[in-house]
Amino acid sequence: MIELTEARIEDRKKAYNWLFHSDFSDFLMNLEGYTRDTIPAYEEFCNEYWDFFFDGTQPENGRCYKVISNGNKKDEIGFIYYTSFHVKEGIAEIDMWLKSLDYAGKGIGTEAVNQLVDKLHRELGFHTFFMRPSRQNTRAVNAYTRAGFKETELVAEDYYKPEFIEEYRKGGYGEGNDVFLLKKLK
Ligand SMILES: CC(C)(COP(=O)(O)OP(=O)(O)OC[C@H]1O[C@@H](n2cnc3c(N)ncnc32)[C@H](O)[C@@H]1OP(=O)(O)O)[C@@H](O)C(=O)NCCC(=O)NCCS
Repeated sequence: MIELTEARIEDRKKAYNWLFHSDFSDFLMNLEGYTRDTIPAYEEFCNEYWDFFFDGTQPENGRCYKVISNGNKKDEIGFIYYTSFHVKEGIAEIDMWLKSLDYAGKGIGTEAVNQLVDKLHRELGFHTFFMRPSRQNTRAVNAYTRAGFKETELVAEDYYKPEFIEEYRKGGYGEGNDVFLLKKLK
């Protein structure tokens, strides 16, 4: 149904637009505490989504992939990425977004997460994966749960490197507003 291909630096603007200027952006931005007036500019996005996510130079720290539909027409329909610079060895955090809600609710998110987990395990030896969607983002929670992630109480010290615990403990939606979803492979 879909495949993942490595995103390139020229894809970064698209990643920004699909996140902040899509038909789900108002919903998602509201959960993250933004209003239309405070939506980050592209330059701010680049300060968080660094070059290495798009040029593949630091696979030990993270990388971004495009989600491609692999039917007759190969359309780009979303982004998925992992981050690992802030967590202990063998652990990766995953996040994703589709281009638009037109593509949501068809099993694409579940499949993309499954593919990335398999790939990271096979090629880079990661064994523990987590995702932290907002509790109000039912579709995301359902999609990731369907991909084998389980709601777990977060003990930040078990996952984050000591120097990142304070910054990352509370998650992206304010203390207690996200679901810590965990998948461990043997
Ligand atoms: C979150 C996202 C990546 C999930 O991908 P997806 O392809 O839509 O998800 P799937 O179709 O694989 O699974 C969705 C699940 O939610 C269910 N679902 C579908 N529409 C739903 C809705 N409106 N409300 C709640 N659940 C819904 C589906 O039934 C499925 O669960 P089930 O099959 O176990 O019943 C995608 O919807 C998206 O990009 N949303 C906007 C951006 C976003 O929220 N990103 C995540 C930030 S953490």
